[in-house]
Order: sequence, then structure tokens, then C-alpha cells
Amino acid sequence: MTAGTPILQIEGVGVTFADLKALQDVSFDVAPGEKLALLGHNGAGKSTLFKCVLGFLKPAAGRITVAGDAPGSDHARRSVSYLPEQVAFPRMLTGIEIITYFAKLKSVDPKEALPLLDLVGLSQAGRRRVGDYSKGMRQRLGLAQALIGKPDLLLLDEPTSGLDPVSRREFYEIIDRVAQEGAAVLLSSHALTEVEGHVDRIAILSKGRLVADGNIKALAEAAQLPITIRIKAREGQADALHDRFGGTRVNGRSVELSCEPGAKIDLVSRLTERREEIDDIDIALPSLDDIYRFYSNRAEKGDAA
Ligand SMILES: Nc1ncnc2c1ncn2[C@@H]1O[C@H](COP(=O)(O)OP(=O)(O)O)[C@@H](O)[C@H]1O
Ligand SMILES: [Mg+2]
Repeated sequence: MTAGTPILQIEGVGVTFADLKALQDVSFDVAPGEKLALLGHNGAGKSTLFKCVLGFLKPAAGRITVAGDAPGSDHARRSVSYLPEQVAFPRMLTGIEIITYFAKLKSVDPKEALPLLDLVGLSQAGRRRVGDYSKGMRQRLGLAQALIGKPDLLLLDEPTSGLDPVSRREFYEIIDRVAQEGAAVLLSSHALTEVEGHVDRIAILSKGRLVADGNIKALAEAAQLPITIRIKAREGQADALHDRFGGTRVNGRSVELSCEPGAKIDLVSRLTERREEIDDIDIALPSLDDIYRFYSNRAEKGDAA
């Protein structure tokens, strides 16, 4: 593999279960050191795609390469590692015992693997039974397990769902370090809010199709979603503002306007001309949910056309 070659290449992948098209014509690449979140509703096909990358499932169409080789080949298997959606470690074993066990399975010297417990912040808890770990600790142990043998590509299936915001941030801090050392990270999530600020790039799967791929800011801009401007009118001025600017009257003294991103400055300057009628202005950018919904719905409308 030469420098700049993607660690993972997915080209036109299709998977069908009986008459269900679980994946259709999915294509994207992941470069070394890149952090990519694969987003999609339940049943979108995220876990199915991971199973194809791991070589557990053979796609009916398309092609996947991991480190230049076919999924499931010896070389591909040594390059990739996986944290499944439901990690179930034997509750009676300690963190140290579990890492030792998995190191042996992967033919890695446990002495090399055990420092991973430090990396994920579990050195203190290493001698405790996993049954006593919190959900966040179990996810971090799962991550340590996935990091054994220094994989080039990490597949993490919904690793942060169910974690509280602090645990989630800690989890991403570890992932950042791993990516800085050159590993590619592909993680799945069903919520854009969970990955915001933590990944370089998102790819959105909807009903088995890839409907968006890019960084969040670029996708938000490309969507050209309207911005909401909420004006709080001075006493007795709401009707006048509503007559002049249109929009929607909300709870007594407020008027809500919707505008294209490009028209924002112009509208705000027209509002400041009416300064004496206005108490306050709030500008709300499209939410992550709006962005997510936009790309999912757009693909569906395309299907209907
Ligand atoms: N082994 C299987 N047999 C039949 N249908 C399956 C199988 N695995 C997944 N599916 C179906 O494929 C679709 C995608 O599932 P999955 O990849 O698990 O979605 P996600 O991980 O995005 O929630 C779902 O409709 C699911 O029910
Ligand atoms: Mg899944």
C-alpha cells in the first residue's frame, strides 16, 4: 500500500436479504488517520456494512478492499478491528483478564496489550470485575480490546449510544489520539448530535443508500436550509412588525421570520432600521436534526420522482 491510498475502499456495494435491499450502491473511501461517522436511522444498514468490511457477509454487488485486500483475507483481518454494537464481556472476569485473553487470541504479547488499559483510563479498574463496570467503562474496555495489535482501521458500531456526555467526550478523546497516530476510525451512530464536533466527516445512510458524504459544515451550507430569526417586539409593536416583515406571530410579543442564509444580513439590517419597535433578536441556525432530515428526505423525494 502506498502513501495516500485509502485504508478502506467501498465501491457500489449492494446487500439483499430475501426481498429487502439492506444496502444499495454504497461507495466511499476512508483514508489513514481519518475519522468518519456513518450515520443512519435504525435499520439503515450500518451494521450490515460493517459486517461486509469485516468479511462476515459477502455483498451481492460491488467491491470492498481493506488495506488493499479482500475483506476476511489474512492481511485485511490483521489491519482491521471491530467493536460490536453489543459488547458482552464475561462479567466475572477483570479488565486485565479480558485484555490478556484477547491479546492471546490475536497472538499479541499481553505485556504489549495491557498498557492499553492506561490509554482508556482503566488502569485503576483493571483488577475489578467487568460486572461492576459502568456502561462507559465497558465501552472503554471494548475500545482497548479493539486497539490490541495496533489496527490500521477501527470499526466502532454505535460506540457512544447510551453514554452520558462526559463519557462520550472521554471516548472521543481516546479516538482522537488513536487517529492522530494514523489509524482510520469508522464509527456508526444513529444521531448527528452524538458525533458533532468529534469527527472530520459524516456519511449518511438512509434505507440502505448513501445520501450524503462530507464535513458537517459543508453539508449544512450545501443544504441551504432556512435560518430562523425571532424578534421580540416592544410593547404594542408586534402587529406593526408582523405587517411589515410577515412571518409568524408567536406567543404575544414575538414574530418569527424564516430566511435563506444569503438573505440574513440584509434582513437584519432592515430590522435594525425598526430598532425602536424591537426589544431583542435571536438568530437560530438550522439544527443538526434539520440537516440530517434534509438529506434523508431529499433522497426519498428523488426516489418518488
Ligand atoms: N441477517 C439478516 N437477515 C435478514 N435481514 C437482516 C439481517 N441483518 C440485517 N437485516 C435487515 O437489514 C436492514 C439493515 O440492518 P442493519 O444493518 O442492522 O441496520 P443498522 O445497523 O443501521 O440499524 C434492517 O432492515 C435489518 O432488519
Ligand atoms: Mg446496527
